[in-house]
Amino acid sequence: MSRSPSSASHNALWGGRFAEATDAFVAEFTASVSFDRRLWRHDIQGSLAHSEMLCRVGVLSAEERDAIHAGLKRIAQRIEAGQFDWRIDREDVHMNIEAELTEDIGAAGKKLHTGRSRNDQVATDIRLYLRDAVDGLRGQLRQLMTALVDLAEREADTVMPGFTHLQHAQPISFGHHLLAWFEMLKRDEARFADCRRRINVLPLGSAALAGTSYPIDRSITAALLGFEAVSENSLDAVSDRDFAIEFLHCAALTMMHLSRWCEELILWNSSQFAYIDLPDRFCTGSSIMPQKKNPDVPELVRGKTGRVYGHLMSLLTLMKGQPLAYNKDNQEDKEPLFDTLDTLAGSLRAFADLIPALKPRREIMREAALRGFTTATDLADYLVKKGLPFRDAHEVVGKAVALALSRNISLEALPLADLQALSTLVAEDVYDALSLENSIAARDHWGGTAPTQVRAAAARARAWLASPT
Ligand code: ARG
Repeated sequence: MSRSPSSASHNALWGGRFAEATDAFVAEFTASVSFDRRLWRHDIQGSLAHSEMLCRVGVLSAEERDAIHAGLKRIAQRIEAGQFDWRIDREDVHMNIEAELTEDIGAAGKKLHTGRSRNDQVATDIRLYLRDAVDGLRGQLRQLMTALVDLAEREADTVMPGFTHLQHAQPISFGHHLLAWFEMLKRDEARFADCRRRINVLPLGSAALAGTSYPIDRSITAALLGFEAVSENSLDAVSDRDFAIEFLHCAALTMMHLSRWCEELILWNSSQFAYIDLPDRFCTGSSIMPQKKNPDVPELVRGKTGRVYGHLMSLLTLMKGQPLAYNKDNQEDKEPLFDTLDTLAGSLRAFADLIPALKPRREIMREAALRGFTTATDLADYLVKKGLPFRDAHEVVGKAVALALSRNISLEALPLADLQALSTLVAEDVYDALSLENSIAARDHWGGTAPTQVRAAAARARAWLASPT
């Protein structure tokens, strides 16, 4: 990035009314080109559409429009090739591109900004940028969801302990657990889709705040840019960033889900649980303890969740004190948005690589499900089916658990005579009720953990993934 020709000179794009040049530090302090140049593609996309519209309504001649289009395309090529000189004295991405265009094509370049302000221009750029970002994230979410369904189908019959309060509660299918994650991501994807509708509205034409006196046709610009609607109110359109805050909110919720998931992966990868093996390539070692294999990727994603929450809070705070219409405060919206996108896209990418490579240790999961009296509820249900009221059954099973605990054995290891001493309703078939496989198979309803239900849920998940976005 360069400061040439000199930050002490007058700004060529708005310097007309100024008697002295901008202070060099102020120029640097207020410039945003160091970060908002990331919007360049969308800035050019907006300018192509704006000039096309101006031509169609007769404000620009076809020659002027053609010169502008050719010039913008040359600029795009130069930026792409890393040959564009981004200048701090030109403040932001918009003025860098416009000034360069005028240098390149002359007088026609000066007409590009007719009927437009940077206020509606930047609002348009961010909307175009976020629309692409949302589409990319939704694609990533769907890719990850596909990996989850594949794994869930493979693991429908794998038994693990389900937890409440991080204590063994009841046996569940590992596939069922994986599909719980799927549901969270499905809601995240739907939230992004909904957010996209409010992003996809054209602000251009609002100009600085009040609209413009040129005979513009905003429906042309909207159609050219693929916006579904044209903003209703110019003051609102140039100033509010609620769509960006909503984007951050969607991202924060997704990160929250990924972070919960990370927590489980970290626990499961620990030697205390040892339910899964994370592939070596997702872990790192310790410089001092040779035996260590640390689950760095899940830990980092869990950690990065904090910065996305922070960005959401930043933008909420950025917006709360602003009177209508545009204020320079809004320039501060970009870095939180860009960092959120990078963080979430990176986290989703890491997960999409990790999930298919995850190795469950089925024997250890099953062993764990046998501990902690996970089929105690099944024993109570067994007694209820034989006619005992549930509260009484609960009491009997509590005693059976205490007995097993005192002998340091599992429920199904209790001899029949001992169980019958607690309730005369117990018969030989009690051991069927106590088996892990029968326990999960018994939860055989929509949303339950029976392997047949898990497979049916996976099939519905696949159908959802195959439906158009
Ligand atoms: N760089 C500015 C931003 O990001 C563009 C709009 C500037 N408008 C203005 N009136 N100074 O918001």
